[in-house]
Amino acid sequence: MASEQTVAGTATSQVLKRLKGKRVLITGTTGFLGKVVLEKLIRAVPEIGGVYLLIRGNRKFSDARNRFLEEIATSSVFDRVRESDPELFESFLTEKLHCITGEVTEPAFGLGQDAFQKLAGDLDAVINSAASVNFQEALDQALTINTLCLDNIAELARLNAGLAVLQVSTCYVNGMNSGQVAEAIIKPARKSIPQSEQGYYKVEALIADLQSKIESERSRYDGKALEKRLVELGLREARRYGWSDTYTFTKWLGEQLLLKALQGRSLTIVRPSIIESALEEPDSGWIEGVKVADAIILAYAREKVSLFPGNRAGVIDVIPVDLVANAIILALSEAVAEPQAQRIYQCSSGSSNPITIGEFIDHLMAEAKANYAAYDHLFYRKPSKPFVAVNRTVFDLVVSGARLPLSFTNGVLRRLGSRSDLKWLRNLETTQSLATIFGFYTAPDYIFCNDQLLALAKRSGEVDQSLFPVDARAIDWELYLRKIHLAGLNRYALKPRKAKRVKTRQHTRRAA
Ligand SMILES: NC(=O)c1ccc[n+]([C@@H]2O[C@H](COP(=O)([O-])OP(=O)(O)OC[C@H]3O[C@@H](n4cnc5c(N)ncnc54)[C@H](OP(=O)(O)O)[C@@H]3O)[C@@H](O)[C@H]2O)c1
Repeated sequence: MASEQTVAGTATSQVLKRLKGKRVLITGTTGFLGKVVLEKLIRAVPEIGGVYLLIRGNRKFSDARNRFLEEIATSSVFDRVRESDPELFESFLTEKLHCITGEVTEPAFGLGQDAFQKLAGDLDAVINSAASVNFQEALDQALTINTLCLDNIAELARLNAGLAVLQVSTCYVNGMNSGQVAEAIIKPARKSIPQSEQGYYKVEALIADLQSKIESERSRYDGKALEKRLVELGLREARRYGWSDTYTFTKWLGEQLLLKALQGRSLTIVRPSIIESALEEPDSGWIEGVKVADAIILAYAREKVSLFPGNRAGVIDVIPVDLVANAIILALSEAVAEPQAQRIYQCSSGSSNPITIGEFIDHLMAEAKANYAAYDHLFYRKPSKPFVAVNRTVFDLVVSGARLPLSFTNGVLRRLGSRSDLKWLRNLETTQSLATIFGFYTAPDYIFCNDQLLALAKRSGEVDQSLFPVDARAIDWELYLRKIHLAGLNRYALKPRKAKRVKTRQHTRRAA
């Protein structure tokens, strides 16, 4: 197991040697991936110089340290280190962990210039994991957190020429390009954007255009109507340039800003594919929240969705969160040891250990059929229908064919006094809405390559390959999907059924 290896390999680990005494700022640690990166650093890299967390205040906690203690330190992600080495955990938190109340989207993180300058001087590296991962975010918000805030990260690097910047991006900046996707700068799939000699795309005019469109919406709408317009604007602009959604479009824009601002400096872009539950660390199946594929799994388990647009032969690219955290730490150690270079790594499974959408569905179906009762937070009973993936045209035909009679019947029942919509109609709407958001991801015609990441792992040597594994070939998909991921979802991401059912019954009684 990794903890024993950690002890055995410490003396010869290049990663540990390179990160010893280094001070690293991390954004996004209230989120899924950020927590796993932080946990691994505490448990496996205890001689790191310091970890600085940039955390914004929220409704409950205005102060970063309080928010950390209540919302991060209490997470089950730390159960392993808390139990195996409580002293290490406590001493790390008091001696090495620095919580900074700040906002990555504001100039100087909202800290004031002096404090920002001092922070820059204190650091050796920054890992920027904060993002809005909402595929249909309002354009102004997505632009602020996924694109424009990178100016603030770049400013930190301008104040400290030795700072290594590691940007967590996504393989899906690839947008609508098909085929093999290399660990390189991505060309927009649809609309041409001027490219620099250095390779990055010149996006300033495009961003200014998006901002003027946002302002125009703001001058005409407000409240919910404005939000809806800005969501639609994001999707429209993303698709015009060659991306399926606002999230991936604005992440691609962010990459371009950083690539330009950090010419001649140290910049590492790590692009994970779809991040799912941990393969092994801190615990097999550890996950937070219901992620991309899980929203569909959950809707199926609750018998809301059984038909979905998808290409069974397409390769779905899923990567366990611990492999992503390891890739980030491996790339970070390279960046602090060999700065002044721009590097791009993809943390993915599609080229090295592909699994098709069809195989993915079949494994999950087999487990649901055989062992649904073992996942009581997920399945309330044995699923009565199989989950079927059909091509988009068939899906659209079936859905539009079913909608007309269902809407008609629903209208009649409503007029006769029914208080709620027909369950079938509600399910159809859930299916359609999930298909709109995720349909692009279930019909892949691209393969993300990760040769550079595997080469980095090889260069790091055997000890670090076992301390910080990144290779998706370690995944036995059947075992992972059936026994690790479903169990993890059930244990970590979903609440027990009982509490929910009681609430629903009370609610129904009150309404009746
Ligand atoms: N999840 C995936 O499948 C996936 C796949 C590929 C790449 N990635 C990338 O991995 C990174 C982490 O993703 P995740 O899944 O961990 O996301 P997550 O769980 O949604 O966490 C997002 C983090 O970003 C912060 N954040 C969001 N909006 C912000 C804002 N306006 N200002 C400041 N902070 C903000 C959140 O802080 P608050 O708690 O304060 O909101 C939170 O810490 C992202 O860069 C994402 O693009 C994720």
